[in-house]
Amino acid sequence: MRIGTLGAGPMAQALATQWARAGHEVYVGARDGKKAAALAGRIGGAAGAGSLREAAAFGEAVLLAVPYTAVEDALTAAGAREGELGGRTLIDCTNPLDDKGAPIGIEGGRPSAAAHIAEIARGARVVKAFNLCTPAVWSLTPPVFQDGPLAVPLCGDDATALETVRALVRDMGCEPMDVGGLDHAGSQEAALAFLAGLWFRGIEPRTALAPVDRLFG
Ligand SMILES: NC(=O)c1ccc[n+]([C@@H]2O[C@H](COP(=O)([O-])OP(=O)(O)OC[C@H]3O[C@@H](n4cnc5c(N)ncnc54)[C@H](OP(=O)(O)O)[C@@H]3O)[C@@H](O)[C@H]2O)c1
Repeated sequence: MRIGTLGAGPMAQALATQWARAGHEVYVGARDGKKAAALAGRIGGAAGAGSLREAAAFGEAVLLAVPYTAVEDALTAAGAREGELGGRTLIDCTNPLDDKGAPIGIEGGRPSAAAHIAEIARGARVVKAFNLCTPAVWSLTPPVFQDGPLAVPLCGDDATALETVRALVRDMGCEPMDVGGLDHAGSQEAALAFLAGLWFRGIEPRTALAPVDRLFG
């Protein structure tokens, strides 16, 4: 599959590296062409690099990997308002946090960052995924822990796009975990804010989770 990235930071690097390794064609898009080219060089193989608009045009699937506060800028530069991402699978890994990791409100009172993104990216098939773990985890080959392959919560409204993202999850050695429609993106984003608050204090959230078969007696 052809995969474009909007952004050339740690998340784009970790995920695009995995997908290139799995045999996908990757094209890194960034506002700074030198940073895009540098990341494509680190990914290696035939990875390409260029502008945000070129990455959007390249990808059958496109990973949006910029800070939430930059999604309007990045999507506008990618041509998303003009329909450049129409029909594409747009993978939203963003979390509405500030640069210190504190939650910030969603602009305009929208229910989630994903809903905001879907509104800007006319016709794109948005799937929220990969927002719950760090680049260090996404870089593991494979991300497997004590319970087996890492589960990757994802949600969206388009069946084809969901299947595309499930396949990309499996390509990394992880297991997709279907959460529901895009109206679940807000809780997926809130889950990260909750977990991050614990992780930053060195607390292991797993200890607060009972097995599902014991929850209701
Ligand atoms: N890092 C994590 O642990 C983690 C985990 C899960 C989810 N996420 C989410 O994943 C997304 C990406 O995170 P990240 O850590 O990879 O990197 P990041 O530092 O949040 O973003 C990196 C990319 O965003 C670009 N960018 C910033 N402002 C921009 C603007 N106004 N217009 C266009 N591009 C802009 C940067 O370009 P320049 O280099 O030119 O500034 C860079 O290419 C974020 O939304 C974050 O919340 C992060």
